[in-house]
Amino acid sequence: MSYCVAIDGPAGAGKSTIARQIAKKMNLIYVDTGAMYRAMALFLIREGVDGADQEEICKKCEEADITIKYENGEQVVYLNGENVNAFLRTEEVGKMASVSSPQPRLRKKIVALQKRLAESADVVMDGRDIGTCVLPDADVKIYLTASSSVRAKRRFDELTAKGENCSLEDIEKDIVERDNRDMTRKESPLMQAEDAILVDTSDMPVNEVVQKIIAICMEKRGI
Ligand code: DC
Repeated sequence: MSYCVAIDGPAGAGKSTIARQIAKKMNLIYVDTGAMYRAMALFLIREGVDGADQEEICKKCEEADITIKYENGEQVVYLNGENVNAFLRTEEVGKMASVSSPQPRLRKKIVALQKRLAESADVVMDGRDIGTCVLPDADVKIYLTASSSVRAKRRFDELTAKGENCSLEDIEKDIVERDNRDMTRKESPLMQAEDAILVDTSDMPVNEVVQKIIAICMEKRGI
C-alpha cells in the first residue's frame, strides 16, 4: 500500500507551494491535480469550446488524452502527447478550469488518472476533492485555507512581480467567485473532509505551515 497525504483547499491557500516542499522533505511525489483540470481547460479553449456549454464540454473532453510524467522531480502534463506545462498557469486557463471541472464525465477521466498515480507511488496530492473523493483512505488529510483578502494579496504580489498590471480588488472578486463555484457545484464540491485537519495559513509563513503538516504526518505514523 502506498502512503498518501491529501491537501485540499481554495485557490491561493498555498497548496502547491506547501505540497511541493512537503514532497521534498518527506520524499514523496507531488501530484498537482489542478494542473490536470487546467490541461483539459487548455484543450477546450484551443478547440473553441464555450465554457457555458456543458454538453459540448462533456463531448469534447473525450478527445483529450492527458498523461503525467515526472522529469527531474517535476510533474509534466502531456496533452495529446504535447508537454503543456508552460501554458497552464494563466488566468484564462484557470477560469476555464473552474467552469469546466464540474462536468462529471471530465472529472471521471481525471480522477481515474489520479487514483492510478496514488496507487503506484507514495504521494502528496493537492486539489479540491482529494480527501473527500479521490483518496478517501489517505493516511493524512489537510484542509488548507486562508482569508480571501490574504489569498488575493498573495496573487496580486505574484502577478505584480511578473510585471503584470492588475487590481487587488478585481483579484479578490475573482477569488470569491471561484470559491463559490468550487464549493457549490454538485459534483465533488470543495469541502473539508470529516477527518481532515484544518490549517489556516493567513498569518503563517510557508516554513511554519510545512513544519506543522510534517509534524501531523509524523504523529499519525507514531514517530
Ligand atoms: O488549483 P488550481 O487553481 O490549479 O485548479 C484549477 C481549477 O481546477 C479549480 O478552479 C477547480 C478545479 N479543480 C478541481 O475541480 N478539482 C481538483 N482536485 C483540482 C482542481
